[in-house]
Amino acid sequence: MNFLSDTTAPAHPKLLEALTAANAGFAMSYGADDISARVETRLKEIFETDLRVLFTVSGTAANALTLATLCPGHGAILCHDEAHIHRDERGAPEFYTGGAKLIPLRGAHAKISLDELDRALDEIPEGFVHTSPVRTLSLSNLTESGTAYTVSEVTERAGRLKDRPAFVHMDGARFTNALVSLGCSPAELTWKAGVDALCFGATKNAAMGSEAIILFPSVLDRFEELQMRQKRGGHMAPKMRYLAAQFDAWLADDLWLDLAGTANRQARRLAVGLAATDGVEILHDVDGNEIFATIPADVAEHMRAAGVQFYQWPDGSARLVTSWCTSDNEIDAALKAIRRDLKL
Ligand SMILES: Cc1ncc(COP(=O)(O)O)c(C=O)c1O
Repeated sequence: MNFLSDTTAPAHPKLLEALTAANAGFAMSYGADDISARVETRLKEIFETDLRVLFTVSGTAANALTLATLCPGHGAILCHDEAHIHRDERGAPEFYTGGAKLIPLRGAHAKISLDELDRALDEIPEGFVHTSPVRTLSLSNLTESGTAYTVSEVTERAGRLKDRPAFVHMDGARFTNALVSLGCSPAELTWKAGVDALCFGATKNAAMGSEAIILFPSVLDRFEELQMRQKRGGHMAPKMRYLAAQFDAWLADDLWLDLAGTANRQARRLAVGLAATDGVEILHDVDGNEIFATIPADVAEHMRAAGVQFYQWPDGSARLVTSWCTSDNEIDAALKAIRRDLKL
């Protein structure tokens, strides 16, 4: 009953088989291999558009390299105050952009509120020499509270930048969880809604370690710059075929969607059980595979004693994350562990 993080989950066997299959003989290096090309073709079908892709081993690298490609060092990146790029990347976006200013904005459930966005844009006029101009808006989907921006919520926010020379970055470390929960198409949730570049995470959804940076048509002309930055930043895997092979297997036969569907479903089951427990409050909609809740100390202690693992924050709230391999048995056992308080 490990609900610490989806990154504690193992890799899916099919992805490991794909690594073995990719291990046959010689292949071109630095992304010029056949598997990388095949994945790019598949992504064009999935996203229904022209695009370019590069692979990295971590979401932090994907975010930092993408932001550096979109935003100059003298520019500003608007993001949510809770954003991983703001709170949890040890300054990597600032470092890789060469000093771009991250401006954190508020909004309930880790979604940037339109009022906050409008206020920030009003306060930062174009062409005022003293102020870092807004060059990028970064949206996380899933958000850091486990909620999903809908297509219209992405479209509205991206639309606010239309009169500026600015781009929209989407941190999609859990993009598939959001997508499956919303039931829209990948195209609708990204470039059709105004997203220019997507960091498309597979690691939290069954990969061993592979993230795709996708540049959509509006920024295709920046691909060489992205490549240059990946190399210069020390993130260009020489044997890129092994990163691509994970995506190759993951995207085949809707495996990526099925795995996120499982994680989301198990999170909902767990959330329902928790919500029915005395004193527990679910803090945000459980749109994907993350539950944030306040859990009374005695209940938390009882759960832990029964082997339910999760993080508890100092403010008393807890985070429980399901993964592609969370089983019915684990959820049943977790629910049993809290059953003495459960009103089912
Ligand atoms: C929203 C979000 N973005 C990006 C990341 C990428 O992190 P990492 O560099 O650990 O792959 C994470 C990991 O927790 C995340 O939650």
